[in-house]
Amino acid sequence: MFLYDLETPAILLDLDIAENNLRRYQQSCTQNNKALWPMVKTHKSTALLKKQMDMGAEGFLCGTIDECEMAVKAGAKKVMYAYPTANEKNIQRIVALAKKADIIIRLDHIAVAGLLQKEAEKQQAFLYYSIIVDMNFHRFGIAPEKVTDFAKEMKAFANLKFFGISTHPGQIYGCTTQQEREAVSRLECETMANVASDLKNAGFSDFYVTSGSTPTFALTVAHPSIQIYHPGNYIYHDAIQIALGSAKEEDCSLSVLTTIISHPSEDTFLCDAGAKCLGLDQGAHGNTAINGYGIVKGHPEVTVFGLSEEVGKLKVHGSTTLSIGDKIEIIPNHACSASNLTNWLVGVRNQSVIEQIAVDVRGNSKKK
Ligand SMILES: Cc1ncc(COP(=O)(O)O)c(C=O)c1O
Repeated sequence: MFLYDLETPAILLDLDIAENNLRRYQQSCTQNNKALWPMVKTHKSTALLKKQMDMGAEGFLCGTIDECEMAVKAGAKKVMYAYPTANEKNIQRIVALAKKADIIIRLDHIAVAGLLQKEAEKQQAFLYYSIIVDMNFHRFGIAPEKVTDFAKEMKAFANLKFFGISTHPGQIYGCTTQQEREAVSRLECETMANVASDLKNAGFSDFYVTSGSTPTFALTVAHPSIQIYHPGNYIYHDAIQIALGSAKEEDCSLSVLTTIISHPSEDTFLCDAGAKCLGLDQGAHGNTAINGYGIVKGHPEVTVFGLSEEVGKLKVHGSTTLSIGDKIEIIPNHACSASNLTNWLVGVRNQSVIEQIAVDVRGNSKKK
């Protein structure tokens, strides 16, 4: 089926572009002798995780325990959970999973380690942990100069094994110049190199340094301080990555297909995709480089200036060929959010519909 014969709105995944993105990042890691453990929360899809695994991903970083369980079920042998948990039920699930694969949980507080140790002892399981280093992003993490002391304290927990140190350079999303992006990437590498050196001086050996994001990937992949990289958005790319300079329009695999349904004034059109397809993100962490709510492919004269739940508002700057009934594709600002708004991505190649791809672990609530 030709993609313009689809009902709208539809969230499309151009499989050639997505596979090309996966291949490029994987090759970059392989050439630099690095491991790629992609962040799964971007797509929350078993089918897409399997594509990443087939291309050479050696492990995965997950944002939820559902994702961890899905990755193990799909055959992943090494799964890192990106965030600490202090919820009893969550701890039971993550510890139980450690009997099926190497589970590495990121930690930044001794009290959480205590909770995990108690449950691991009860289930006679062993978990790995990676210490979160705060590289000035100030979300999770321990200040770099305090990591070694924390690592020493962690030796008290017999069922928790030291895997390494991890960070995420989230402040990259607030950068508006190449200079700022290079500074964040440098900070990412140097911070991790310094902490690793402190740990080695204190007698720790055989541990991994893990970090990453799509916008810092190209600037950091060759640096010797990091061994495992965790980009997530790279499978899709989006308007935010274009604004940051880490992707071009032709690298964006995810788009929303929508039909023009109204023309209320000379320079305004309405389409049948709103916030419930495109998402309202305008860039995390205060980035001001984003214009509106997405990029209309092939129509640089049109901006998406507003969204209500099921309706997109388009403004024309100058003249346009658009008219009612036309179908257009909009690249969302944040593809991770857009793909979390659908149960199915419509997989296309050369504008033909090929397959439906389930976004199968997007829910936060489980049916009991
Ligand atoms: C801890 C962590 N690591 C890696 C990533 C992936 O970053 P990106 O989507 O920029 O590739 C994220 C995403 O927010 C994250 O929270």
